[in-house]
Amino acid sequence: MLNQTDENAASRRRTVHGSINVRELRALGLNRDDLLDFSASISPIGPPEGVWEAIRSVDLSAYPDPECLELREAICRHLSTPSRELPIERVLVGNGSTEIFHLLARAYLSDRAGRAGGGSAMLLTPTYGEYEGACRLADAVVLNLDADFSDGFRWDIGAACSLISDKEPDLVIVCNPNNPTGVYLDRREVEALAGAASDAGSLLVVDEAYLSFVENPWDSLELLDRANVMLVRSMTKDYAQTALRLGYALASEDVVSRLRDYQPDWSVNGLAQKAGISALEDAGYLPRARDAVFRAKKYLSTELTALGLEVPRSEANFILVKVGDAPKWRSLLLSKGMVVRDCTSFGLPEYIRVGIRSMADCQRFAAAIAAVAPAALAD
Ligand SMILES: Cc1ncc(COP(=O)(O)O)c(C=O)c1O
Repeated sequence: MLNQTDENAASRRRTVHGSINVRELRALGLNRDDLLDFSASISPIGPPEGVWEAIRSVDLSAYPDPECLELREAICRHLSTPSRELPIERVLVGNGSTEIFHLLARAYLSDRAGRAGGGSAMLLTPTYGEYEGACRLADAVVLNLDADFSDGFRWDIGAACSLISDKEPDLVIVCNPNNPTGVYLDRREVEALAGAASDAGSLLVVDEAYLSFVENPWDSLELLDRANVMLVRSMTKDYAQTALRLGYALASEDVVSRLRDYQPDWSVNGLAQKAGISALEDAGYLPRARDAVFRAKKYLSTELTALGLEVPRSEANFILVKVGDAPKWRSLLLSKGMVVRDCTSFGLPEYIRVGIRSMADCQRFAAAIAAVAPAALAD
């Protein structure tokens, strides 16, 4: 289904996010330390050990490197193989991957980018709200291609390609695997989007914030052979460094330098840069984090299904749970010390999203949901 939003200037609401909202906690008289946050989906094993020492080594009175040179070199070492070397000119580091979406909107969609009346972006929805938020700030026209809610939230990729050809948006943004549905497009589907985007003169942006937690991923780096594709990744999620804010984009040199022109110097702080380098050097970390996610996710999905709740297939480190009345379940679970993401703002008011935490936390969650289920399902 296609719907077009052109009242952008009129409503500049902030994007709704998960995680613990301090204002809400104060109003409810709750203490942050008493809560388990299942509303954000980050590595469940905490940051890599070496990160703390790396942070302590930072001179807090020195400006960070505005070019993030050493971190970009570390990213290239991490991603290069003997047959494929990634040059640092193709890497842009951001203050979280969120900064990169805002740079994209400014560089491709705003008036300053030479777009009279703003550019246009096509989003495959329901998805991460910050894409639309960034596009709205740039006064862009936003086209949404909705997934089929009756078919596991998958998109009709043929229809998406036709829409790209028809509307020729400046940007096409797809989240893979998708937040909040956990749908993971295969190589053929993303290549079809990239081909249509190339013919239409659009930049295809693939947000891979949760890719590290897909059990059998395909090698998306091959997409970088195409000049019109950008991959965006989140180190805050991969390495549990959410508070530091760290993400990066991989794209052609031209695209990277175009975004860099819009990026304020020092937006990536010195602690995040050092922590990022240290995390990338810990080769054993991601396999451990992945293993913890896979075991806890399997446990939680089985437990929730046994309670009679519908848990659609998810390839990411979170699951959707169909509960009927998401706001009500969220507050019932909050009373048990568990924070979940009410998916109403995604257009999914019957679902909550549950991030995969450690096995012990998931066991507590299963017990909490079993305790609230009778009351929640009663009326
Ligand atoms: C799909 C998606 N992309 C990007 C982000 C932002 O991540 P970062 O912490 O790297 O800014 C989020 C955060 O929830 C997300 O869900």
